[in-house]
Amino acid sequence: MWKVVWAALLLLATVCVQRGYTKEAKGAQSLGHVSVVIVGGTGDLAKKYLWQGFFHLYANQVSSGYSFSFYGGGLSPNDKATPILFDVLKGVVCPRELSVERCALVKEQFLRLAEYRQLNTSEDYQALGTHLTEQLRQEGIVEAGRLFYLSVPAFAYADIAEKINNSCRPTDGAWLRVVLEKPFGHDFSSAQLLSTQLGASLKDNEMYRIDHYLGKQVVSKILPFRRENSKHLDLIWNKHHIERVEIVLKETLDAKGRISFYEQYGVIRDVIQNHLTEVMTLLTMELPSNLSNTNEVLKNKLKIFSALQRLDRNCAAIGQYQAYNAEVQEELSKTREHFSLTPTFAGIMVHIDLAQYEGMPVILTSGKMLDERVGYARILFKNDIFCIQSYSSVHCKPKQIVFYFGHGTLQYPAILVSKNLFKPDLMDTEWKEVTEHKDVSVLGLPISDYYVLTPTVEREAYAELILHIFQGRKDSFISAENLLASWSFWTPLLQSLADTFPRLYPGGADNGNMLDFKQLGRKVTFANEALVMVTQDHIGGSGRESFQVMQGKYRSADMVSAWSKELIVRLAADLQVAAENAVRECGRFHLALSGGSSPLALFQRLARHHYSFPWRDTHVWMVDERCVPLTELDSNFRTLHDHLLQHVKMSYFNIHPMPVQMNQRLCVEEDSGALLYESEITQLVNASSFHFVLLGVGYDGHTASLFPGSKLDASGNSLVAFTESPAKPHQRMSLTLKAINQAQKVGVLVMGKSKHELVTQLSRVKDNPKHWPITGIRPTSGRLVWYIDYDALLG
Ligand code: BG6
Repeated sequence: MWKVVWAALLLLATVCVQRGYTKEAKGAQSLGHVSVVIVGGTGDLAKKYLWQGFFHLYANQVSSGYSFSFYGGGLSPNDKATPILFDVLKGVVCPRELSVERCALVKEQFLRLAEYRQLNTSEDYQALGTHLTEQLRQEGIVEAGRLFYLSVPAFAYADIAEKINNSCRPTDGAWLRVVLEKPFGHDFSSAQLLSTQLGASLKDNEMYRIDHYLGKQVVSKILPFRRENSKHLDLIWNKHHIERVEIVLKETLDAKGRISFYEQYGVIRDVIQNHLTEVMTLLTMELPSNLSNTNEVLKNKLKIFSALQRLDRNCAAIGQYQAYNAEVQEELSKTREHFSLTPTFAGIMVHIDLAQYEGMPVILTSGKMLDERVGYARILFKNDIFCIQSYSSVHCKPKQIVFYFGHGTLQYPAILVSKNLFKPDLMDTEWKEVTEHKDVSVLGLPISDYYVLTPTVEREAYAELILHIFQGRKDSFISAENLLASWSFWTPLLQSLADTFPRLYPGGADNGNMLDFKQLGRKVTFANEALVMVTQDHIGGSGRESFQVMQGKYRSADMVSAWSKELIVRLAADLQVAAENAVRECGRFHLALSGGSSPLALFQRLARHHYSFPWRDTHVWMVDERCVPLTELDSNFRTLHDHLLQHVKMSYFNIHPMPVQMNQRLCVEEDSGALLYESEITQLVNASSFHFVLLGVGYDGHTASLFPGSKLDASGNSLVAFTESPAKPHQRMSLTLKAINQAQKVGVLVMGKSKHELVTQLSRVKDNPKHWPITGIRPTSGRLVWYIDYDALLG
């Protein structure tokens, strides 16, 4: 009996489906026809997620008044690819809410509505365009829109977009939506190029750049959760209460089978630049007043991007699973000598330059071949309660909110709020509170210590996003500006890591604690340093342990030499002694510091190890400055600020940046910036004699911003002058030789093998400040000391 009813139903469905266009919408008002084309329709992503997602869309919308047709496009000819496509389509499963009978009917319809088309040449796209229009005409149906999903390598995007633009645009009044999968570029410039190329064929509102993390239920709940719980969160969502934010994606899989992709991208480009960065912006952006206002969401996201502090290689710890290199050799047919530096693991520390989050680390971590598959974002709050006895009582435990994307011990997506924080409000019927738990722990706390919220029905990220595309909702997609802002943040780090050796790790549980990393000020290093030492010894056997600090003479002045690390330790100690003496004798210490890369290690040493340095009585002056706004990364003051000043406790009144920007312009003689700085020196520094001036020396022999050929004498008696650099930015402001030579102590710091040639040459030349400005440094009554590391001295 059942079979008869069933056959009748199928028959009915078959009759209703004509030339692929469902008529089930008959009862409802017809809203028009939607053609869906998945380019790359038999590829991995399409097989795994896309067809399933479009089937759900169909099942949910079939009675809504829209009619549909589906095309799987690919390079293979029809006879080869059609059976493959139908094997995939047969495997799609119905949404849980459909009855078995309804499921069979809808699936049958879906299969009839789908077909494979070879999409290779311009003619193929022309034929598709003609077919789509002709079908509509024959059926007499109005067109609602055309959706192209490009599930193909990014290098093919521009070409396909052009073909769609030329021959597949919909009829008047209907929409065109083209979905693009990541990667969108490889770095800032390639993303920009791709954006320009796509812009030639498609309008911005036609492009949907997908990041499937934005379709994950927990991720898309971050902003609503923050809004629903703002009465609790407003007070604590800041640096005073948050210890750190961790955004983590751990995977157990390797990259086998997709090495040709992975080798070009690595973990940062593959998941951190996109998925984890998007989560970071959702967690830290200002809450938009209207969460569904796409423009406002985007605007607030962009504010976070522009406040992110620039990253360099010190902000990341990277690793590579041991088998990766062999996989590269095999899949890319490389020789046994080939060595890949692509990271498969990265732990990165990010800081946000906003008063709300200043100093609060955001840690982004991901890796292949780790011990478990899990993804989460954890907000760990400071716990200011000092527990004396009953450590297991709830107020002694970590306070945290965990946005748990899925997998791991919990196995389902959830938002967890530790009970010692607050009971979260739930204003969304699509979410529920879980009160019955299996016995698991999540991030150090038994599940019973959390309030747990989870979606009432679990939905797949792609299915969610496909629905949004169909609805024309752009708030969960990546805009061009968002994309470029993200690449402009990540590109400098990627560049600085390009030649860094990742730490090798065995994979899985054997990794032990090898990949644990720690924060050291603004730096991130692996916690287990012993391994690094073994590797270094193995490679070079440099014997650094047996260092000595050497004292001697250089250019008839005093010289201190050591390996770079010890040299910096020594220079920092000398500075502290000079500071303490000066404060003892005259109540303050006037220190003039220069730019360049050599003093960075010194700044960091002073910031992290010299807690007893008399900063409160120290005045910091600049030796020289580039004519750029002080907030620019190029500015010497900005470097000094980022590496030293912001880490020490000193009065703002004692910090003396050079006034290179006056009257909204840079270094204009008439604005008298140099004179102004000079008079500040004269007023505050006794006899205009700094206690300590720290200098560097450039490859051309320049020091401060006094370059070969500058008319050094022209500044006569002045202490500060405008000068010209042969390198950009050309305009500079600098202390003059006179100002420097009046100092009580001048230290010249020279480091690195690349300075060896210069050190040798300088040791031979006579004083000739015109050609070698550094040779003009001859303190009149003070002392000159050269601090030269062994690399620079010995080569
Ligand atoms: C993809 C990456 O974007 O995200 C994969 O290319 C990664 O390398 C995947 O495995 C992780 O997504 P999910 O949804 O499994 O966490």
